Amino acid sequence: MKNFLTLIAYPIAVLTASIPRETQAVPSGPFSAGAWKIAQGHDAFFFGTSINASGGKFYINQNTSTYCPAGVQGLDCSLYAGTGTSLIIGSGSTTISLEVTVPGGQQVYVAPDGSLSYTQAHSAYIPTGSTVDGFSRVRSVAFGAPIYLYSAGRNWYLCPVTEGKPRERTYQIFALPEAPEGCLSTQIRTYDPAAGQVWQYA
Ligand SMILES: *[C@@H]1O[C@H](CO)[C@@H](O)[C@H](O)[C@H]1NC(C)=O
Ligand SMILES: *[C@@H]1O[C@H](CO)[C@@H](O)[C@H](O)[C@H]1NC(C)=O
Repeated sequence: MKNFLTLIAYPIAVLTASIPRETQAVPSGPFSAGAWKIAQGHDAFFFGTSINASGGKFYINQNTSTYCPAGVQGLDCSLYAGTGTSLIIGSGSTTISLEVTVPGGQQVYVAPDGSLSYTQAHSAYIPTGSTVDGFSRVRSVAFGAPIYLYSAGRNWYLCPVTEGKPRERTYQIFALPEAPEGCLSTQIRTYDPAAGQVWQYA
């Protein structure tokens, strides 16, 4: 009898616990991403430092690289002067695309070396062994209800690619199951999309 009551009580507890989360759905639509890393005794800490796309990879402390073809009839590149990086997870999907205007779009994936990457415009080429799915955004119950970006079975890392002060050097974004040598673990938070449209990321 006792076990029977426990069985009944259990689903009720689950239901109650799930109500607050229902009201905190993650918005669909484009978002920007930022590295979120508290100091924890380390000199490098970041509170939403913009993750920018450049040369097929993603970085913090590096400018976004974009391209718009000049001289195309009917294409006004002054409309595509965005300097930030916006991403989108399709509804019901676990894949990420860059928010671009170029036909065919640009897909985001994790390359075999763990680097967060994106396809070039007009190309669907993704190296064998890459991971294209498993991305999600989840709203935290912590104060401020930040929305984190996850890559299933992997953690996010910042790997330095330039010299400089810990908070100023350029870091590349990696998603790997375990920490690569010399890299810092980080979380990634998502925010309102970057201002300004982009034709394509380059
Ligand atoms: C980054 O972009 C800003 C303007 O948006 C520019 O002033 C700066 O020189 C650029 N930095 C590099 C390293 O290109
Ligand atoms: C990266 O993108 C942000 C906007 O999302 C922009 O403010 C910033 O200037 C860009 N460059 C660097 C070096 O962070």
